Amino acid sequence: MNRNLFLLNKVRSTPLYPEIMHKYIGKLAVLHNEHADLALSQALSMRLAVPLYYSVDNFTAEDFFLSWRDGCLKLLDKELLKKGGLMVELEPRKGEQRSWPAPKEGALAQAIGRKTRTVVDATTGWAQDSMHIFRMGYDLTCMERSPVMLELLADAFLRLEQLDWVKSLALPIPKLMPGNAIVIFPQLASAPDCIYIDPMFPAKRKKSALPKKSMLILRDLLGDDIDKGALFEAALQTTAKKVVVKSPDYAEPLGGKPAQSFKSKLLRYDVYLKN
Ligand SMILES: C[S@@+](CC[C@H](N)C(=O)[O-])C[C@H]1O[C@@H](n2cnc3c(N)ncnc32)[C@H](O)[C@@H]1O
Repeated sequence: MNRNLFLLNKVRSTPLYPEIMHKYIGKLAVLHNEHADLALSQALSMRLAVPLYYSVDNFTAEDFFLSWRDGCLKLLDKELLKKGGLMVELEPRKGEQRSWPAPKEGALAQAIGRKTRTVVDATTGWAQDSMHIFRMGYDLTCMERSPVMLELLADAFLRLEQLDWVKSLALPIPKLMPGNAIVIFPQLASAPDCIYIDPMFPAKRKKSALPKKSMLILRDLLGDDIDKGALFEAALQTTAKKVVVKSPDYAEPLGGKPAQSFKSKLLRYDVYLKN
């Protein structure tokens, strides 16, 4: 069986992270869409231990909903109910190169570097950075600890396999490893060249730009990643060559002075080299 399908089945049949799941109570529900398979909605609500609804209104207690729409799993809040919802986007950004070797330009490409081959994204989230890394041709492993995000990612990676450009370039689909990266780093078969981390930082009070809706929803649902210092230390121990940390431009570097820093609009990629 295909490795991601195997993992997906594992994710879908094992009750994961009970200590995190209880946080969804009163916050999240599955919203069944009449055009989708009811068994899928029922199984999803059981896996996440959240209610299954057939419709919602302003009196519904929960603020967030998972629902199958337009052939993919989407996350919605009450504002998005009519508009369609958020899914993991897979297609390249405008003007983006997607072939190996990785491009010389672009802050993310420069931070990861052209001598890097294997990358672990320890904080996959909506996988927008992961997908960029994947499309540049790196050999990618994705880690994520939120069961909600894992469901969205598992659905996305199955869609990814079906895309024509992925098939024609014969790109290996990223491996999806569920769990807290600090705990699952030792399960890696070999040390990756680069570990990439993009934890959630507290929002700045006076924002110079509004975060994307997808990131606002993630912060509302999951909260800040208060263990990011421990994650950085574990990543530096695990990596073969380097750790790249993405941070907002206003945040202090997570691991002290980085060896290199590449700036992009309102954010930085700090590079730490393994001694
Ligand atoms: C800011 S989001 C990442 C966004 C991502 N870079 C993207 O492009 O969509 C942070 C994500 O990392 C996950 N995360 C944070 N710490 C983690 C850890 N120690 N292990 C696994 N996942 C973690 C959170 O659950 C959240 O989904």
